[in-house]
Amino acid sequence: MDLTRNAAVALDEADPLAGFREHFTGPEDDGPDRLLYLDGNSLGRMPRETPAALSRAVEQEWAQGLVGSWSSWIGEPTRLGDFLAAGVLGARPGEVLVGDSTTVNLYKLIVAGAEARPGRDVLVCTADDFPTDRYVVAGIAEARGMQVRDVPADLDEGLDLSVLAAAIDERVAVVVLSHVAYRSGALADVAAITGLAHDAGALVLWDLSHSVGSVPARLTDVGADLAVGCTYKYLNGGPGAPAFLYVRQELQEQLRSPIRGWFGQRDQFAMGPVYEPAPGIERFGAGTPPVLGMAALEVGARLIAEAGVERLGTKGRSMGELIVALADDWLVPHGVSLASPRDSSRRGAHVTLTHPQAWQLTQALIDRRVVPDFRTPDRVRLGPAPLYTRFVDVWDAMDRFRTILKDGAQANYPAERARVT
Ligand SMILES: Cc1ncc(COP(=O)(O)O)c(C=O)c1O
Repeated sequence: MDLTRNAAVALDEADPLAGFREHFTGPEDDGPDRLLYLDGNSLGRMPRETPAALSRAVEQEWAQGLVGSWSSWIGEPTRLGDFLAAGVLGARPGEVLVGDSTTVNLYKLIVAGAEARPGRDVLVCTADDFPTDRYVVAGIAEARGMQVRDVPADLDEGLDLSVLAAAIDERVAVVVLSHVAYRSGALADVAAITGLAHDAGALVLWDLSHSVGSVPARLTDVGADLAVGCTYKYLNGGPGAPAFLYVRQELQEQLRSPIRGWFGQRDQFAMGPVYEPAPGIERFGAGTPPVLGMAALEVGARLIAEAGVERLGTKGRSMGELIVALADDWLVPHGVSLASPRDSSRRGAHVTLTHPQAWQLTQALIDRRVVPDFRTPDRVRLGPAPLYTRFVDVWDAMDRFRTILKDGAQANYPAERARVT
């Protein structure tokens, strides 16, 4: 691979998604000291159109329309869900609902899945999954008298299919896994794992938080059962943007949300004495949907759908390949190692590097206007969102990274971790 800056510029010139960068705003975008934002996998950038969309929702729908606006707001969780299904998730209409947080949606779908598999007393997850996933699984197991099988996963390479296969048997009700591992970026084989679980009669719930908008999910094609995900990362919905949940159409009637809220009720405004789940995906609703959050999310989701998840996946892989090649050449001689799968077909859109002084390096990068994030125990995570990041941004960020290492500048930062970014 040609590792010159000119080669990175040439990749940008050939990039069919290059124009999407113009749809975003933020800290000044050009010049040699410009901010290089490689944390789109934590909080995506703000689309230029978001303030106007929020202002429309506030000034017109709320201020002028008042309670009358509920006639359109009430349909938003399913309308936006259908949009995500078709444009982003590869799912069918009526399979996706927007609302609540990923944590709450995990809870709803794991309990619903466990109840749909009576007599099975095991939940499977990986020992290195995102904390909220592990905590929710453990809490549900404790409350229901179930066991958790924590499948070991390599911190760098992710899950080994044969190790997972050995953990799935007739006792397993639900397998909870991340499509892209938050720490290493390791990409799970959704079709193969879904097949394994189905052979044993278990359901699989996918956490798509680190893949949605950067790696195609193709939920219908792979026969996925259940999924949840964040929308403030690659979907650029903004801080605290509502999450989504997906339930395969054929499963919906068998599953019931453990939260019997009035927004999941069959005839909501009959205000009846007992809860009866609504038909279809709406039964997984709970309380009043986050209307303003959905207005912002729609702007980000539209840009992702327009760019196309297949093209985003291709560009994300190429940017990861550039990071790995530059790291091999420039950073490895200074004690950095790759902490992600080397093969880009086994990775999501972020790449993780490890170094004993990862915390200090992260601070040094931030001071030099490169925004990565630190992950325990000793990792720097680089998440260049394919929608708006240029190859030359990746090149320049890696260049600043090598200068820090060459100068040993990280030694000027306290080793003690003040906070986790
Ligand atoms: C993989 C994964 N799952 C779940 C969550 C938690 O989502 P929320 O805080 O919106 O519930 C996150 C947050 O970063 C995440 O990365």
